[in-house]
Amino acid sequence: MVHSLWAASLSLAVVFPSLSLAQESLSLSVPPKRSDATVSAELDPAFAGFGIEPSNLFSFTGGDTPNTFSIQLLQNLADYSGAPPHIRVGGNTQDYMIYDETFTSISWKRNVESTAQGAIAADSMIIGPGYFQALDRFPKGTWITYGLNLAYQASDYTDRIVKHAQAAVNNLKNVQLYSFEIGNEPDLYLQNQMRSGAWDGAAYSKAFLDRADSVYKQVLEPAKLPATFFEGPCTASTIGNTFEIPQLVDNGFLGDVNGNLYVGWWNQHDYFQFIGVTVEPITLDNLMNLDSTNTQFKYWEKQIKIGLSTGVPYVLREMSSVGPIGMHEVSDTFGAALWTLNFFCYVATLNVSSVQMHMTDNSNASAWQPIEIWGKKPFVRPQYYAHAAIAQIIGNGNGTTQIGSLSTSGAGGDYKGRIRAYSVYANGNIQAAVLINSKPSPSTESNKASYTFDLDLGTQSANKDVFLSYLTADGSESLTGTSWNGMTYDDVTGLASQTDNTIYKTRTDGSGKVSVQVRDTQAVVANLDWLLGSNVVEQVDGSTTAGSRRKSSAGHTLTSPRTMAVSLVAVMIGFFCFA
Ligand SMILES: *[C@@H]1O[C@H](CO)[C@@H](O)[C@H](O)[C@H]1NC(C)=O
Ligand SMILES: *[C@@H]1O[C@H](CO)[C@@H](O)[C@H](O)[C@H]1NC(C)=O
Ligand SMILES: *[C@@H]1O[C@H](CO)[C@@H](O)[C@H](O)[C@H]1NC(C)=O
Repeated sequence: MVHSLWAASLSLAVVFPSLSLAQESLSLSVPPKRSDATVSAELDPAFAGFGIEPSNLFSFTGGDTPNTFSIQLLQNLADYSGAPPHIRVGGNTQDYMIYDETFTSISWKRNVESTAQGAIAADSMIIGPGYFQALDRFPKGTWITYGLNLAYQASDYTDRIVKHAQAAVNNLKNVQLYSFEIGNEPDLYLQNQMRSGAWDGAAYSKAFLDRADSVYKQVLEPAKLPATFFEGPCTASTIGNTFEIPQLVDNGFLGDVNGNLYVGWWNQHDYFQFIGVTVEPITLDNLMNLDSTNTQFKYWEKQIKIGLSTGVPYVLREMSSVGPIGMHEVSDTFGAALWTLNFFCYVATLNVSSVQMHMTDNSNASAWQPIEIWGKKPFVRPQYYAHAAIAQIIGNGNGTTQIGSLSTSGAGGDYKGRIRAYSVYANGNIQAAVLINSKPSPSTESNKASYTFDLDLGTQSANKDVFLSYLTADGSESLTGTSWNGMTYDDVTGLASQTDNTIYKTRTDGSGKVSVQVRDTQAVVANLDWLLGSNVVEQVDGSTTAGSRRKSSAGHTLTSPRTMAVSLVAVMIGFFCFA
């Protein structure tokens, strides 16, 4: 007996060091009511959207037959959030396209009579009504930001852009035309030979306003659509050039003394890393260092503030982890899903009102691959699961969701740059917390450490159930096997299936405190009172969609870390006593 006790105390020495893996923690006090300065405006259900490169539209919509896989993947997100994700159809290739109403096939064709300027000519592609027929297959009410061609400048340019805009207004019936862009990344027009000679922010402003004026007077006004229907400047970057928001304002971009005429949204682009532009090596480890995102985005943060101060909303219509078309084993991994979820929450807190993650059919940074390419059949990438997560987070508040950032600067050592936490409000009250642990852990590590978030949700949240929804996979480098809230998405149909029926829940104590452990390379949404996605979601079109997860079940209550440690010790003592 004495011998056994001695063994038991020895075993404690063995047990505690491994338990201490889970001891890294951070205390966060979560304001129970929305406190204005640090919390976003209400997020639109279409907030987390996609950009589609115009030349690749048919890969996503399908040609003669609809791409039901893509359409279902978009519909899932609409069901979760309350509206389909906002789609931008725009990119370099919008500046290569001219519209020909006699070309009716559901495809684009090369213009064999191309005469325009450009490294790739500004009239090298022809599209017709089939283009809009295909786009109209996306879920009902999908907001479309449509990119018109500014590069084309032959003598009939006004006639061309007016006809193209008119076709968009006339032919999009199931989806909803939301806004027009005029030109993609005009800051790069000298480089790609779309312009020569004097081309700068001032020349751009003039060209933009000239076309906006024609499209408004000849297309929008007759259709009773508003004049502030345009987005600009759609720049790749404004660092060191003359396309900065204040410079454009000085150029009269927002109109003259009579006020803003045409600009409804400040629209800028960014990529976290871009092959051939980013100086440091592009690695998964750096993508998962979330401090790097803040560093890279610092300049854009300033632009957002300046843009919002003009009274015009700010949208990030072209964004991605790695441009131009991703990087295998970086942008297509589970680590990229954690980056994406963090990015959505982060820019929400900056009051960016919409984000479009850019997609091409061959991009390893697209949320899904819509057609067979690289010798691989279509499939869903881990990134899609981050879209599913943010869609459920937004839908959970029926259009009242607001996101605030919680300071994680106290996360040090190995966890520096790897920990993020956000508060989520619904109807002005605390509803959830998004907790991200992006410390890379490979799938080969079976005994992963965890990080503990000690949340203080305030006394109004005392003694409440807290349901946990996990964004998870085997490891940071995992290309497959991701799940969100127990769901996975089929690579053929795009339909969700519930692969984990467990309901994970814990409880706040009598003062509203709760500790949540998040494994390395994982994110958790801790939602008060019910399981995320179990409620009916009110759709913006007035309908409702049933909850995507069961409301309750026999349940699986998580023991708190402390109880777990104690019971483990008890087991060990028992083991040695009986040995
Ligand atoms: C975001 O908008 C909300 C609501 O208008 C405001 O209270 C908050 O201060 C804004 N935050 C930033 C960073 O602009
Ligand atoms: C994209 O990923 C696939 C594997 O899924 C790979 O075969 C291909 O080379 C990658 N393409 C690029 C451009 O990285
Ligand atoms: C959203 O609406 C559903 C159905 O009307 C309701 O059950 C749920 O409580 C609402 N959620 C919030 C946060 O208001």
